[in-house]
Amino acid sequence: MNEPSVESPTAAKASCPFAGPPVAPPLGEDSFRRVVEWAPSAMVLIDRRGVMVLVNAQTERMFGYARSALIGQPVEMLVPQPVRAQHRAYRADFLGDPQPRPMGAGRDLFGCRADGSEFPVEIGLNPIDTEDGVMVLASVVDITERRRSQQRLEDALREKTVLLNEVHHRVKNNLQVITSLLNLQADHASDPRLRAILAESCGRVKAMALTHQLLYERKDFSRIDLGDYLQRLVQSIRASYRAGSQRIGLRLAAPEGGIPLDLERAIPCGLLLNELVTNAFKHAFPGERSGEIAVELETAGGDIVLAVADDGVGLPPASELAGSPSLGLQLVPLFVEQLHGALQIERGDGARFTLRFPARIADKETT
Ligand SMILES: Nc1ncnc2c1ncn2[C@@H]1O[C@H](COP(=O)(O)OP(=O)(O)OP(=O)(O)O)[C@@H](O)[C@H]1O
Ligand SMILES: [Mg+2]
Repeated sequence: MNEPSVESPTAAKASCPFAGPPVAPPLGEDSFRRVVEWAPSAMVLIDRRGVMVLVNAQTERMFGYARSALIGQPVEMLVPQPVRAQHRAYRADFLGDPQPRPMGAGRDLFGCRADGSEFPVEIGLNPIDTEDGVMVLASVVDITERRRSQQRLEDALREKTVLLNEVHHRVKNNLQVITSLLNLQADHASDPRLRAILAESCGRVKAMALTHQLLYERKDFSRIDLGDYLQRLVQSIRASYRAGSQRIGLRLAAPEGGIPLDLERAIPCGLLLNELVTNAFKHAFPGERSGEIAVELETAGGDIVLAVADDGVGLPPASELAGSPSLGLQLVPLFVEQLHGALQIERGDGARFTLRFPARIADKETT
């Protein structure tokens, strides 16, 4: 401490460098003092040696000192003990190139109260030209409350993430229980037709369970990667048609970067794929016929295009399908509608279904 302590604000005023005509900013001394005094943050004016020559009422409140205990003292008394020496060095650096700037970019800054307690602060530094040379006006904001609310928000977000994870995990588990029940019932059913119906239902529930599984595996609860989802779904369908897996090839083509899709549409999309791929396994290659099922996923002009094709026996005529009591192809148009999409069916060498739907729901709504 190399500056004589000035006891009262009046005394401080007497030694104040703004005694003469204003230099910069172009304010009279009284205006400058008023601005500083009523500022909502703590304002501390220090000279080249780091001695406080002016402080405002907010500084007294924030640091718990009377003004008279601050004026004439080194500013380091407001800095926590362990960083005081460092602070002197930073101060010298600042005076080497005095530019208005926030203090300690990237560092956590703390103030030290009269009772020794510390609190987080944000500090803005402003060099001011005076008759006595460059001084530094530091504006100090106590960010304790901001830190606390940020912490509360982070905690709440973490809690929500854990809960969402839990919900998706449970939904998936419950759906798995349903598939096990359906499997059990299928095992006990003597009618093969009933067994087949139960197995189909099982596949549909599995397709839904998989979306929840991917959501909690990836920890992104708003969307899943459609390519990844379809890949795993198709493999799971293939596993349940073990009988044909040797003679029926399966090819899946999806873009490298993945296609993100919200849960709301991932489910109908997965269910639709489930129906089409299941049908291809079940109906396209009767007997010992061999061939390939291709699932192609791509984006085109703001749309997602998903094609399921096989080179099997081909679809029966439309008239025959219309009268069919089966459920699968009746569900397909419902899923297409939920996706705001369009489905094209090609009959020829085998069957080809091409679904096209907007990549973003908003795109559809505005067109
Ligand atoms: N890829 C395909 N190749 C050849 N025929 C097919 C193909 N997909 C569907 N079909 C024919 O269309 C019919 C209707 O299919 P749909 O999915 O509605 O019924 P399903 O598969 O028999 O029963 P489910 O209601 O369990 O799906 C099938 O019975 C089959 O004859
Ligand atoms: Mg079917």
